[in-house]
Amino acid sequence: MKLKNSIDFCPLPLEHRSYAARGLKARGASADGMAGGAGAGGARSRALVWLMVWIALVAAFGWSTNGYLTQRLSSGSWVHVLVVAVNGAFIGVGLLYIHDRTQTHNPVQRRFPVVYWGRWLAVELGPLFRQYWFASDLEEKPFSRVTRNWVYATSKGKKNTIGFGSQVDFEAVGTCTVMPSMFGSADEARSYSRVIGNATGVENPVKVEHFVNISAMSFGSLSSRAVSALNKGAGMAGILHNTGEGGYSPYHQKGGSVIWQIGTGKFGCRDEDGNFSEDLFRQVAGGDKVAMIELKLMQGAKPGKGGILPASKISAEIAAIRNVPIGQDVISPARHAEFDDVEGLFDFLDLLRAASGKPVGVKLVVGHAEEIEAIAVKMAAEAGRGPDFITVDGGEGGTGAAPLVLASHAGVPMKQAVAVVDWAMRKHGVRDRVHLLASGQIATPIDVVVAMALGADGVNIARGFMLSLGCIQALECNSNRCPTGITTQDKRLERSLDVEAAAQRVANYVTTLEKEVCMLCQSCGYSSPDQFTADDIMVVTSPGHLDYLSELQQQSAWEAARERSHALAAGLSVGESKRLQMVEDA
Ligand SMILES: Cc1cc2nc3c(=O)[nH]c(=O)nc-3n(C[C@H](O)[C@H](O)[C@H](O)COP(=O)(O)O)c2cc1C
Repeated sequence: MKLKNSIDFCPLPLEHRSYAARGLKARGASADGMAGGAGAGGARSRALVWLMVWIALVAAFGWSTNGYLTQRLSSGSWVHVLVVAVNGAFIGVGLLYIHDRTQTHNPVQRRFPVVYWGRWLAVELGPLFRQYWFASDLEEKPFSRVTRNWVYATSKGKKNTIGFGSQVDFEAVGTCTVMPSMFGSADEARSYSRVIGNATGVENPVKVEHFVNISAMSFGSLSSRAVSALNKGAGMAGILHNTGEGGYSPYHQKGGSVIWQIGTGKFGCRDEDGNFSEDLFRQVAGGDKVAMIELKLMQGAKPGKGGILPASKISAEIAAIRNVPIGQDVISPARHAEFDDVEGLFDFLDLLRAASGKPVGVKLVVGHAEEIEAIAVKMAAEAGRGPDFITVDGGEGGTGAAPLVLASHAGVPMKQAVAVVDWAMRKHGVRDRVHLLASGQIATPIDVVVAMALGADGVNIARGFMLSLGCIQALECNSNRCPTGITTQDKRLERSLDVEAAAQRVANYVTTLEKEVCMLCQSCGYSSPDQFTADDIMVVTSPGHLDYLSELQQQSAWEAARERSHALAAGLSVGESKRLQMVEDA
């Protein structure tokens, strides 16, 4: 299936890339981000026909003039070659002119034949030039050059100190700064330690001593080498590696412990009809290295979207890992078939927990606060039930492939989303029963601190780890042409990624990231990032004006939830309810 309007890696504002140019290039990517290479079919074969006509005409010209030209031109055969080349170029331009004039799909090309291709080239190369030459070090999205360079340097174990001073604009809106203490800690000692699963009395609770994990990215959207390197690196650093929804593959078994993610396709635990199979689930979940289970309800880059894994992409290996048949399309529905309300969700979580004996969590994207509150209310009413952990993915989250409209315009962004979930859990007195993980454009120490100050217990990072593997933000994740071999199934491209070296970079990155988060803790007098509160960070809200984080996303999350619940109770929209309040106050 062609996802012509799917995007790769991240939502980007249109000014940063040619949506049309890139969107139309996307080839055969399935909606779960599984890269493919079906080819641009019609356009390519038309171009091939024109090329063959051109070669035939040039060859015919060369052959028919051979005797005449070499006889008349005494300077030798190179003159003949030159004449044929010049004439070949003329014939080529002529054919191009006819082609452009007669084609019907592009009016500009028809109106400006031949020269149109100059514009095409400029559009094609535009993103490349902007990225390397013209974009400032701080402006690119989703990750600026400064951020990328920091990840590259830390991953390679290079010194990442800077000279002279920061390039960050301290007056720019959004700039965050922590509130250091005059009497910070004497050392960088770290006291972070959590146990996940105690509240539900699960058989095998998990003790975590790291607050950074590798976020879900499945084998299929990532190459086998990329998955192997991430897993190996996770093992070296002692962090958890989320499998993504594509199943638990041999590449996830290179030393790191995993969070096995189950998406709506139930890959790895589905029967022949695509239904959830408890037997298969038990088999995989029983694996030594499977630490926890994550039920994916939604993903920030495509909330409410399932996917199609086309038959053409289902190799024997993928079929075995995902438990799907070879030779037919496999549909991942938009939502889970096993439940359609919170009661059903809790029942399913109970089933997974009982069958695995391991902590079970959910991955979600925040929409209306009352949905989150409903989870919290039920947890409060029924002790020992509900998710052991919640992964909150921000609307700005990345993807292997997703429609631009969902990636750019659906789902509350990470900061506000974390604040909403934290607020709902606190309001109903269940905050200490659930481990809260945040994801969404987190890559540097200050990102981690901001997420944790807003209520997260830890963070999941996807694209930051891709950068540590060597990703250059080429935005080609959905095209099977990832130049770094990370998001491709093309073995030729994949070969450039050395698993051992990349695993070391993964471990270096997360070790330095956590170390530098602890530096920020130290300057504030803390020993663990979970001691940060939203009053420990100030944000520039206009030049010369700083506000506490607690006045921004945290306050906004609280207000939004309160206004919505008032409005719902009165059967009104939030706007109507506020207007009514104003009239009453007046
Ligand atoms: C290549 C790629 C593949 C992904 N695959 C999955 C997936 O299988 N399941 C899932 O829940 N999220 C998936 N995600 C989303 C990430 O897990 C994460 O939630 C999101 O990208 C936000 O984190 P980031 O900003 O650190 O990338 C994927 C993201 C990327 C970039």
